[in-house]
Amino acid sequence: MSSHIVSLLFATTILLVSVQSRTLFPYEEHQLTREHVASLPEEDAALLAFEGQFEIQAVNTTDKRCRYDPSDKKWPSEKAWNKLRRQLSAPEILITTTPQASLCYGNTKNDAGCQQLARNWSNSYTHIDDPTEVLSPIYQGLTCQPPSIYDIGNCTLGGYPARVIKAKTVSDIQCGINFARNDYMRLVVKNTGHDFAGKSAGYGALSIWTHGLKDIQFFEDYVDEPGYRGPAIKAGAGVQAFELYKFANERGVIAVAGEGQTVGVFGGYILGGGHSPLSSLYGMAADHVLGFEVVTPIGEFLTANSTSNADLFWALKGGGGGTFGVVSSVTIKAYKDMPVTAASWQLDSSKIGKDKFWAATKAFFDQAISNVDNGTYSYWLLLPTGPDFIFIMQPFFAPNKTANQLNTILGPYFSKLTSLNIPISPKITEYKSFYPAWQAEFPLEPMSGVSGAVSSRLFPRSNFASETGRNITFNVLRQSVEAGQSLIAFNMATRGSNPDNSVNPAWRTSVYHIITGISVSYKASNTDIMSARAALTNGTMQKWRDVTPGSGAYLNEADRLEPNWQQSFWGDKYARLLEIKREMDHRDVFWAHHAVGSEGWKVESFDGLPNENGKLCKVGA
Ligand SMILES: Cc1cc2nc3c(=O)[nH]c(=O)nc-3n(C[C@H](O)[C@H](O)[C@H](O)COP(=O)(O)OP(=O)(O)OC[C@H]3O[C@@H](n4cnc5c(N)ncnc54)[C@H](O)[C@@H]3O)c2cc1C
Ligand SMILES: *[C@@H]1O[C@H](CO)[C@@H](O)[C@H](O)[C@H]1NC(C)=O
Ligand SMILES: *[C@@H]1O[C@H](CO)[C@@H](O)[C@H](O)[C@H]1NC(C)=O
Ligand SMILES: *[C@@H]1O[C@H](CO)[C@@H](O)[C@H](O)[C@H]1NC(C)=O
Ligand SMILES: *[C@@H]1O[C@H](CO)[C@@H](O)[C@H](O)[C@H]1NC(C)=O
Ligand SMILES: *[C@@H]1O[C@H](CO)[C@@H](O)[C@H](O)[C@H]1NC(C)=O
Ligand SMILES: *[C@@H]1O[C@H](CO)[C@@H](O)[C@H](O)[C@H]1NC(C)=O
Ligand SMILES: *[C@@H]1O[C@H](CO)[C@@H](O)[C@H](O)[C@H]1NC(C)=O
Ligand SMILES: *[C@@H]1O[C@H](CO)[C@@H](O)[C@H](O)[C@H]1NC(C)=O
Repeated sequence: MSSHIVSLLFATTILLVSVQSRTLFPYEEHQLTREHVASLPEEDAALLAFEGQFEIQAVNTTDKRCRYDPSDKKWPSEKAWNKLRRQLSAPEILITTTPQASLCYGNTKNDAGCQQLARNWSNSYTHIDDPTEVLSPIYQGLTCQPPSIYDIGNCTLGGYPARVIKAKTVSDIQCGINFARNDYMRLVVKNTGHDFAGKSAGYGALSIWTHGLKDIQFFEDYVDEPGYRGPAIKAGAGVQAFELYKFANERGVIAVAGEGQTVGVFGGYILGGGHSPLSSLYGMAADHVLGFEVVTPIGEFLTANSTSNADLFWALKGGGGGTFGVVSSVTIKAYKDMPVTAASWQLDSSKIGKDKFWAATKAFFDQAISNVDNGTYSYWLLLPTGPDFIFIMQPFFAPNKTANQLNTILGPYFSKLTSLNIPISPKITEYKSFYPAWQAEFPLEPMSGVSGAVSSRLFPRSNFASETGRNITFNVLRQSVEAGQSLIAFNMATRGSNPDNSVNPAWRTSVYHIITGISVSYKASNTDIMSARAALTNGTMQKWRDVTPGSGAYLNEADRLEPNWQQSFWGDKYARLLEIKREMDHRDVFWAHHAVGSEGWKVESFDGLPNENGKLCKVGA
């Protein structure tokens, strides 16, 4: 055979194998190995050992009721922290928590800096880009806010973790998990801090902060045995929606992710399911995952995909964040870009009268099923404004539809408004592709009020299938609004291929996800606070549950006090999730409030309120 033919054959082979599959990011190549740990001096090795690597664990935890926190004698010494620091990719990534607002307090307070911070407090970036801040500060315990916003006269650490590893490599994550486990500390994971229940905080914890893991890679032709061949994106755990969408747009594709600009896509969002402006076409974000890279509770780095660790793969697609390990990157399918048409409008009962207002709102509600079956998503608010009410559509989002098509879909609603003599001039915009539509239609969301607490429910399609069902469901929601509740409603269905994963089955049959909440004054007594919480969770929400029996709630946007949360968040998937959790994490290294397998522990909060400001202790021990 001539060398010419050989090189030709060789070239053909190269072409054949040029389809792409799993690769690691450079930061994932930096791994901690058992060999490395074994090569360390004995004391250091005991701190950083993998689970089960040596016979002797650093701490005998058999009768320790609570995780060690900084007030314990057994809390790691500075010497031990320094041993950890030496194993990290850089010494400065081990951070001792300083609450941002501490500059407003004490002998060294900085008034100008404090005022600047207070002005920036509602900006979500102020919290996202900080190692420990969370966007639901009520669950941190509100122990250190700028005093012009919330003044208790001093600043303490409260529910913020004590130390943070700003992860730059997989080895950093492994060191953090091993160190926390071996020292019987509480471990938490923070990405952006968006979690509605404060699950990215935790008093006295060591936190692993994934926000800096921003690598992102495009595969034009990714091959996954046995199911998928096409474009894919692999993204680091820290990549946020605004970064993903921009990256995808530059490559002419789209990806299924959330509406909020700053939400982390590849942490709690996708692990908890993830709804999207594209959900009525493509389902949940978790439905599109091809693989995860993850560090497990025992400290091991592995892949969970369709051919490796299939149980873990299933559990990570909907089972929730902070439970099975720390994800370092996720590979998802990407799709061809498409045009979008969006519409926004408002109705105000002070202008059209209450009867017409409610009739118009009901008319939109009556379209619930046809909207989603036409592939659209809508995001609307219904707010009491003193004696009146406003309805704000922001936006009605119709991917792959023209303005004409949008007008047809909303035709029955617009006709109803005309017949009610309600003037309406929706702002309708056609976009050539997804990215500009998303950018223009979803503004940056501010941090919610410092003492806001939310609750939510998924409303099944069957509620909307008959006029009786629509009337009953609507009347319950109307009564809540008339009693002072605001609604944030998402009309979407999570259609698509409905793969077998651990996403809440209630999502598959619902056409509405509706959030409501209360603002509790933390100057009120605990009794008053808890009766306001009960009025929401057991009052308003019980009425919602009564009209949606057997449905559930979206764990990522749920009530911290959700009753019967295992059924509500996972339905009949819970039993298998719990089995996988027990198998993977028999020492409960990962624990988050109302996460899979969290039943054995609870936060004993110092102030007696539901939050992260207290020791994490075994239940009933
Ligand atoms: C303004 C706003 C808009 C939103 N929009 C949407 C939306 O459009 N669709 C939707 O579905 N949801 C939306 N959400 C809810 C969102 O899904 C949750 O807040 C989710 O928890 C965010 O994940 P995160 O990683 O950014 O947040 P974090 O609070 O940092 O983490 C959330 C949970 O996941 C864990 N976690 C984080 N990273 C990892 C990791 N790498 N490995 C393992 N565990 C991890 C944390 O420990 C915590 O338990 C929105 C929330 C807000 C505040
Ligand atoms: C750990 O402590 C328990 C209870 O004090 C004791 O029974 C057990 O033997 C100890 N285990 C080890 C490995 O020392
Ligand atoms: C805080 O405000 C200043 C001045 O308005 C601005 O320059 C800065 O970027 C803001 N920081 C954040 C995190 O929003
Ligand atoms: C901080 O203020 C609170 C409320 O005024 C008080 O109960 C607490 O003891 C104070 N803590 C410190 C450390 O001063
Ligand atoms: C799954 O991960 C394993 C281990 O990394 C890898 O060998 C395999 O190719 C992956 N499977 C797919 C379908 O990508
Ligand atoms: C699309 O919307 C129109 C108008 O509302 C409705 O008649 C039709 O049934 C919808 N299509 C589907 C598939 O539901
Ligand atoms: C988008 O619309 C085109 C043309 O109407 C159609 O062929 C395509 O299947 C649609 N895409 C999706 C994801 O619905
Ligand atoms: C539904 O409510 C409307 C408006 O209140 C009413 O006219 C209609 O009779 C009700 N239908 C049913 C089946 O209850
Ligand atoms: C709701 O009621 C249940 C059952 O009575 C109770 O256990 C729970 O504490 C209540 N929730 C709130 C927030 O009061």
